[in-house]
Amino acid sequence: MAVVTGHRGGIGSAVAAMLQTQGCRVVGLDLPDIDLGDSAGLEARAQQVVAEHGPARILVNCAGTTFIGTVVETSLQTLQQVFAVNLYAPFLLMKAFIPHMVAAGGGSIVNIASDQALVGKPASAAYGASKAALGQLTRSAAIDWGRDKVRINCVAPGSTDTAMLRQVMADLQERSGQPAASGQAGFASSSVPLGRMAHPDEIAAAVVFLASEAASYITGTVFPVDGGFTTA
Ligand SMILES: NC(=O)c1ccc[n+]([C@@H]2O[C@H](COP(=O)([O-])OP(=O)(O)OC[C@H]3O[C@@H](n4cnc5c(N)ncnc54)[C@H](O)[C@@H]3O)[C@@H](O)[C@H]2O)c1
Repeated sequence: MAVVTGHRGGIGSAVAAMLQTQGCRVVGLDLPDIDLGDSAGLEARAQQVVAEHGPARILVNCAGTTFIGTVVETSLQTLQQVFAVNLYAPFLLMKAFIPHMVAAGGGSIVNIASDQALVGKPASAAYGASKAALGQLTRSAAIDWGRDKVRINCVAPGSTDTAMLRQVMADLQERSGQPAASGQAGFASSSVPLGRMAHPDEIAAAVVFLASEAASYITGTVFPVDGGFTTA
């Protein structure tokens, strides 16, 4: 059984569908059924999932939220809200599911960070900090649980064609007052070496690979799937 958070979103739905195609049963955690930004009770909800469906062999922390703003423009409350979904929820779900994975002989966790786990971007104080922290949480936990056969990796997607990216691009355009080419056209001349954004399936393929036995000797990576953006 695999638990996938944000399974109703662009990348999460692609991950869930790909896992199901491979015969894996998927339990999704997403709005409106569960607010991952509400940290209280999240561990208990995870224990309920285990009681109903058995121990998860795979956990994919994909749900995410964003906020456009510099440090000065970001309130502490907003920072906390972004961290609650992007960092505290993965932390609490790892905390809840890892002991069951250990007891079951192993498992695989894939956290979805961002290229912002590796590089900075403008007006992204809260989001960038949350994703960089998720990358480091992944590395630290991978060291702690490797000998118990729990592999923990991170996928760091670049710009991917989902509702979240479309909203971010609209917000940035409004902020700058500059008309921007929409969709793929805006990426042809960008600093993405492949000259386009990703399709959610291209991110899901990396997630499903890292979750699978094919990646049995891979743990602790923050794996960019970004068309080369972070190497350019
Ligand atoms: N799209 C991109 O360009 C891009 C780039 C880098 C990283 N990411 C990351 O990929 C992941 C998936 O994003 P996406 O692009 O598919 O966006 P999306 O908006 O399509 O999906 C996000 C999902 O997270 C869920 N979610 C948000 N807040 C939640 C909450 N409080 N409780 C429960 N669920 C909540 C949403 O309901 C939705 O299903 C996110 O972690 C995002 O930060 C996306």
